[in-house]
Amino acid sequence: MTDPDVLSLPLPDARARDAIIRDLDDNLLVEAGAGSGKTTELVSRMLALLESGVADVDRIAAVTFTRKAAGELRERFQVRVEQRLAQERSEGRSEDLVAERLSAALDNIDRAFIGTIHAFCARLLRERPLEVGLDPAFEEMAVEERIMQRRRFWQAYLERLARDSDPVLEELAQAGLRPASLYGLFEHVVENPDVSFEAEAADPPPPPEVAAVRAELEALVDHAWELMPDRQPEKDWDSLQKKIRTLHFTREITGWDSQADLFEAIATLCKQGTRGHTVTQNRWKNGQMAKGVAERATAFGVGDTPARKLVSRWYAHRYALAIRLVDHAAREFAAHRLRMGQLDFQDLLLLTAKLLRESPRVRRDLGERYSRLLVTSSRTPIPCRRRSSSCWRRSPRTPWRKRRTSRPTGERSCLDPARSSWSAIRSRASIASVGRTSSYTAS
Ligand SMILES: Nc1ncnc2c1ncn2[C@@H]1O[C@H](COP(=O)(O)OP(=O)(O)OP(=O)(O)O)[C@@H](O)[C@H]1O
Ligand SMILES: [Mg+2]
Repeated sequence: MTDPDVLSLPLPDARARDAIIRDLDDNLLVEAGAGSGKTTELVSRMLALLESGVADVDRIAAVTFTRKAAGELRERFQVRVEQRLAQERSEGRSEDLVAERLSAALDNIDRAFIGTIHAFCARLLRERPLEVGLDPAFEEMAVEERIMQRRRFWQAYLERLARDSDPVLEELAQAGLRPASLYGLFEHVVENPDVSFEAEAADPPPPPEVAAVRAELEALVDHAWELMPDRQPEKDWDSLQKKIRTLHFTREITGWDSQADLFEAIATLCKQGTRGHTVTQNRWKNGQMAKGVAERATAFGVGDTPARKLVSRWYAHRYALAIRLVDHAAREFAAHRLRMGQLDFQDLLLLTAKLLRESPRVRRDLGERYSRLLVTSSRTPIPCRRRSSSCWRRSPRTPWRKRRTSRPTGERSCLDPARSSWSAIRSRASIASVGRTSSYTAS
């Protein structure tokens, strides 16, 4: 079924689809499920821009998030322009203005920007690298290369800390954190450069409070130990017995001398939720008394108890230390990439957003070059992608205004991709909402 065939059928979201090809001077935000006709409507809008003379082909930029989508869009756009031109000619309107416009567009079709957001950003940055402190000969790094570089940088960073005997290493050691084990956190922070992680310093819990909780734990372990059988029960130790054995063992070995060991011990009896500790009575020397141990352990570490509060404070302290280190490393890593002129995809987006945010001249030039910008978003939006595209709106402070379509249910959820067949489009899929913003000129 060809596009012109299907477009002639009445659809429940016809008004929204009409707005896409009619309201050419409005910024539109279109939300739609998979297979509902987004690309078709985008191409229709590009065509309408050309036919109406609102924009010449070289003033249109259509931005996608993947190379595949860009390739598909380029091809579909060209085919539609050719089809429309052929139609005009076959109906004897070769000399008309619309045909002339379409013909000119076809001649210059390569001058439209149809590509990925990364290519678009790279193009902008190449024109003005110095404004964001970038080496003009910068390179875009492939994903695999970037992963290797991240690992290498982290190792070199830790080596540098060790070589300089950085005091942070001592702090981490006291908190029971091995720097090498923080690589996952480093990765996470590097991959989310537009998220600010809270790193407010949190002191470890004060010694008197810790001493009181320690005394309670010691007494509990001693009491429970007396009630433990000498041999492993036939059906294994119950869960509380396993914990008491761990506690007894670690105290023997480490004496819970360091804060890290002590808090690990306290945390052993702390549980989330409200379900307390339980025992299997016949596995203890004295079942009734074992029940009492479980009650004590519950009072110690389940719910809003002093021990739980201390553990939370301890974790907050450790987290702040870890984030502080990792955040610093991530910032150094970003600066290193900038210095070396080796950018990853996130860098391209963030630096472009910065360039547009900080330079009215760049915004104006962009607006002059491309009078119409069309962006197809991914199905999994990433904050910085949204942020970089919001910079292209005329007024970033103008909120998106959405308009519901006439869809009877008013439902706006995405549709199951598996249902994106033609019959599903007719019955289920729709351009779920179309909103407007002030018109784009980036001026
Ligand atoms: N208005 C319409 N009426 C009937 N069929 C349509 C309509 N618009 C698009 N289609 C058909 O639906 C199918 C999917 O369209 P399209 O590729 O434009 O959807 P999409 O939302 O971009 O899909 P995806 O989520 O996979 O990117 C195509 O075969 C297209 O011809
Ligand atoms: Mg599509």
